[in-house]
Amino acid sequence: MKKYLVTGAAGFIGANFLKYLLGKYGRDIYVVVLDKLTYAGNLGTIRQEIADERVRFVKGDIGNAELVAQIFAETDIDYVVNFAAESHVDRSITNPQLFLETNILGAQNLLDCARKAWYRGKDAEGHPLYAEGKKFLQVSTDEVYGSLTKDYDEPHPLEITDPDVRRVVSGRTDLHTYGKRFFTETTPLDPRSPYSASKASADLFVRAYHETYGLPVNITRCSNNYGPYHFPEKLIPLIIRNILAGQKLPVYGKGENVRDWLYVEDHAKAIDAVLQRGRTGEVYNIGGFNEETNLNIVKLVIAIIARIMREEPEYRRVLKTDVENIDERLITFVGDRPGHDMRYAIDPSKIARELGWYPETPFRVGIEKTVRWYLDHQAWVDEVVSGDYQKYYEQMY
Ligand code: NAD
Ligand code: DAU
Repeated sequence: MKKYLVTGAAGFIGANFLKYLLGKYGRDIYVVVLDKLTYAGNLGTIRQEIADERVRFVKGDIGNAELVAQIFAETDIDYVVNFAAESHVDRSITNPQLFLETNILGAQNLLDCARKAWYRGKDAEGHPLYAEGKKFLQVSTDEVYGSLTKDYDEPHPLEITDPDVRRVVSGRTDLHTYGKRFFTETTPLDPRSPYSASKASADLFVRAYHETYGLPVNITRCSNNYGPYHFPEKLIPLIIRNILAGQKLPVYGKGENVRDWLYVEDHAKAIDAVLQRGRTGEVYNIGGFNEETNLNIVKLVIAIIARIMREEPEYRRVLKTDVENIDERLITFVGDRPGHDMRYAIDPSKIARELGWYPETPFRVGIEKTVRWYLDHQAWVDEVVSGDYQKYYEQMY
């Protein structure tokens, strides 16, 4: 049986990962969830999971040394998966300090507690030894690589030249790009926002713990996730929520910035693959091969909701506006995000080649599923926005 410490599992990706793990591994798993339940963490998201006897929920801060040491003392943790973070770029611009505390100091505390709990002395050459089968996986982001240029105004079909990667991604004709260059695992770190600077710092600490203390680690760097349980301060769920309320859709700048979108369950599968089979000490990039401009994303979501409301009138019960109002007139261009990165584009060839992972969910399938999930889970949205977020939203717009 493998025992996991999953931090931040009451948030978007962590919750999806927890659900995926419990579904995949049956009785062969035990998970301690550690989450501080910030504005972004919602226990309702994992209500069913924490009632499961394979899960123990601990409310607390990853930066609390005593608490984390106690978790390691009580449970012989095999895998640490660190999702816990302050994750929103705009909030990092208004309050960078909090991002340092959680994303850097918190991560370093987890590393230190894992190192102490797993340490088993030294080998004959004086190298540190750790208990068998342990791993610390840091969930990082493509934003640590900085920003790429956008070379095309329209999407170009993506040419995959590596035959091994082509084999893994076989049959997909929808993959496209807006530029010539991509982030690989060897791209130098060049963070540009307080959020990405804090995530890059954490990555450097993870690497330092591997190089200095020999701690078994992996870092995964992922592109923009979308899917169920995404907090509605982020672009896609914010747009869905505003459309249903007939409110303006704030698009930063001209909406030309490009993000690479990955369905969250595909991300969960990638993390599982890296934990099980990733080479210790390695970084793995995880991406969707699916770049899109923000403006196109917003237009697409409007079109999907307008179609569903036309064809399936029973869904109109979730509308707080008239169906006729759902169109592109809702779009409003607002001031740009300071230091707004133009384009992110992950090259996930390494994980495809080494671990056979690829982004399985075509965007048109994933985005339709996501929109429908939100239409069916308005009670969840109301619950998560009822507190702190409402104040934040009013400040922003
Ligand atoms: P999220 O904001 O939805 O959730 C973060 C979770 O961490 C929440 O449950 C929150 O309560 C918890 N948390 C925050 N501070 C904590 C602390 N000090 N101690 C314990 N728990 C704390 O975030 P997300 O979008 O699910 O992102 C998860 C991870 O993945 C983050 O590390 C983020 O940097 C990374 N990431 C996210 C994306 C994305 O598109 N969302 C892409 C790449 C990488
Ligand atoms: O790339 C991975 C990153 O993706 C993760 O590391 C972050 O945790 C995650 O929040 C996400 O960061 P972004 O800044 O890309 O996501 P966000 O949803 O905030 O914004 C997506 C794009 O949409 C970005 O170019 C800014 C723009 N945007 C965002 C909001 C909230 C708008 O135009 N209007 C908006 O209201």
